[in-house]
Amino acid sequence: MASASSIAANIASKTKTKKKHFVAQKVKLFRASDPLLSVLMWGVNHSINELSHVQIPIMLMPDDFKAYSKIKVDNHLFNKENMPSHFKFKEYCPLVFRNLRERFGIDDQDFSNSLTRSAPLNSDAQGRSGARFHTSYDKRYVIKIISSEDVAEMHNILKKYHQFIVECHGNTLLPQFLGMYRLTVDGDETYMIVTRNVFSHRLSVYKKYDLKVGGLCSFTAIAKELPTYKDNDFINDGMKICIDGENKKMFLEKLKKDVEFLAQLKLMDYSLLVGIHDVERAEQEEVESEDNEPEEEGESDGGGIGTPPDSPSNTLDSTKPLGPGEFDPAIDVYAIKSNDNATKKEIYFMAIIDILQHYDAKKKAAHAAKTVKHGAGAEISTVNPEQYSKRFYDFITTILS
Ligand SMILES: *[C@@H]1O[C@H](CO)[C@@H](O)[C@H](O)[C@H]1NC(C)=O
Ligand SMILES: *[C@@H]1O[C@H](CO)[C@@H](O)[C@H](O)[C@H]1NC(C)=O
Repeated sequence: MASASSIAANIASKTKTKKKHFVAQKVKLFRASDPLLSVLMWGVNHSINELSHVQIPIMLMPDDFKAYSKIKVDNHLFNKENMPSHFKFKEYCPLVFRNLRERFGIDDQDFSNSLTRSAPLNSDAQGRSGARFHTSYDKRYVIKIISSEDVAEMHNILKKYHQFIVECHGNTLLPQFLGMYRLTVDGDETYMIVTRNVFSHRLSVYKKYDLKVGGLCSFTAIAKELPTYKDNDFINDGMKICIDGENKKMFLEKLKKDVEFLAQLKLMDYSLLVGIHDVERAEQEEVESEDNEPEEEGESDGGGIGTPPDSPSNTLDSTKPLGPGEFDPAIDVYAIKSNDNATKKEIYFMAIIDILQHYDAKKKAAHAAKTVKHGAGAEISTVNPEQYSKRFYDFITTILS
């Protein structure tokens, strides 16, 4: 059995080429460059193990939406070089999130494996906020650091969110919230939330946009340095999402229900995250990386599960290999392929992100900002959640063709 470090090195070296051959092997140590990530891995492993002994209730109780589990670890001696010796791990509403994972078709053991088999990876920001975030090593999940206000807002909406997920059978463009944790290391508290990755775990995205309502005045700071393109870029690029009528109809139906729900919760300022996979371009890059590194060919089977160069990477749980531009809709739930007439064969990944901005909090912040900038009495020209949802929906309809 390979050691954790050789697997980490293996993954690092494969990342450069477009082929990733993850080896289905248990890593015994939680080894991440950031102690916080080691604690997250430890905590998820612990929590999923604990939960596996807790019977699944017939239905969730009101108290489950306020519950938490907590564990404090002192003098942690095992794996000392990677783990802090003192830390605390708190999981919020464990039974609710387990239920949500089930509704989103995610097996708890797979979830735990994704987050603990190898350390999560740093990722480019997927949101506007510029928040630091990671993906699980297999890119299925996104781990985001959130604020204590976000945790409070999650508690506010969780019951309604859960109800909504039940009613739509998990068929939504809203974030799939899968777990929420508080990690305490050296007295510092860090809050994290895990969601399903909007983008594919295997199809690369060459361009991504973060679309808000065009021209709407927003008081949240927009980080200019993010590589994510914004709504104006989208329009200036002449971008269109070319999907067929049936897909468009399904997408817009979901979008409509989702934004109406967000308006009910008085949430606003969310965006549509759009990622575009170009099938030919990806194939070309695949060929180029093979040309440049021919020695990869024979090297891939070091761990046992060798996959031929043309087969997709990371097919741990799918029996049928996927061809270029193909995806498993049970995993890449947000993927929609371009219509047959489109000039380019593309796969689009589209979902709503950054939903935790509450109208009242925004008004307060806006008021404070305005008062500082323009003195008291300056008018607060902020739209309400209802208007935001309508304009958002209308705007998104214009980018589909
Ligand atoms: C993961 O959890 C199980 C059950 O609690 C435990 O036996 C195992 O040692 C844990 N793994 C690590 C690496 O801590
Ligand atoms: C593709 O083009 C044909 C011929 O112009 C048209 O009849 C058909 O409706 C188009 N299909 C889509 C999905 O746009």
